[in-house]
Amino acid sequence: MTKIVILTGAGISAESGLGTFRDTGGIWSQYDLTEVATPEGFARNPALVHAFYNARRKNAAEAIPNAAHAALARLEQALPGDVLIVTQNIDDLHERAGSRNVLHMHGAITRAKCAACAHEWDAPMEMRADDPCPACKAPATRPDIVWFGEFPYHMEAIWDALRAADLFVSIGTSGSVYPAAAFVQDAGRAGARTLELNLDPSENIHDFDEARQGPASVLVPAWVDEMLGR
Ligand code: OAD
Repeated sequence: MTKIVILTGAGISAESGLGTFRDTGGIWSQYDLTEVATPEGFARNPALVHAFYNARRKNAAEAIPNAAHAALARLEQALPGDVLIVTQNIDDLHERAGSRNVLHMHGAITRAKCAACAHEWDAPMEMRADDPCPACKAPATRPDIVWFGEFPYHMEAIWDALRAADLFVSIGTSGSVYPAAAFVQDAGRAGARTLELNLDPSENIHDFDEARQGPASVLVPAWVDEMLGR
């Protein structure tokens, strides 16, 4: 029995048509992250932040899972209970491909949250700054996204899983945002073998035991076939 923790980033959804953040022409070259992905930016201009995430929500809803998402779902089905996906992505392509054991450490574009009372619910396709919270009625609704300066979700469960992992695989992430960028070291220290599957070498490629370069739609199905002995 091999316990596998898989970290995914924007690169796994790139071939589904969702833009990455830091590649040439990426989201952070088109938008100022301090304006659209921080609590301070939201306080200054909630309409701008909602417009940004409304566009992300529409793109994500229109996207379809690619061969890499499907391969990870196949791995989980073949090894039930032994595969955990920790994703930095806010899209739901892992779930729509069939993965069930998924932790969204940076939140989910399909969910809304009240900044006043912390109530959470399914986000409508278009959110507006003056939408009232369904629970407390405060006009303080925000996307349920973890912004820069906020603490990621599920961290205790993630660190527990990294400590228990035999294999840690990082897919489609530049390794530039913490704490996710340190997971390879956390898992390695706990004795896991570590593997990177990414289009370009990541910032922390030297922390991995092995790294393979190429598109996720090719590398991930091939790696899953290896894992399943096919
Ligand atoms: P980045 O945009 O930083 O990195 C994407 C990585 O995916 C790059 O290293 C690319 O080489 C790789 N890549 C691109 N296309 C690929 C493909 N077809 N197959 C495989 N790899 C590919 O995105 P993340 O690392 O996910 O956080 O960014 C981490 C966090 O920074 C995000 O969750 C987001 C962002 O700011 C928040 O907004 C809180």
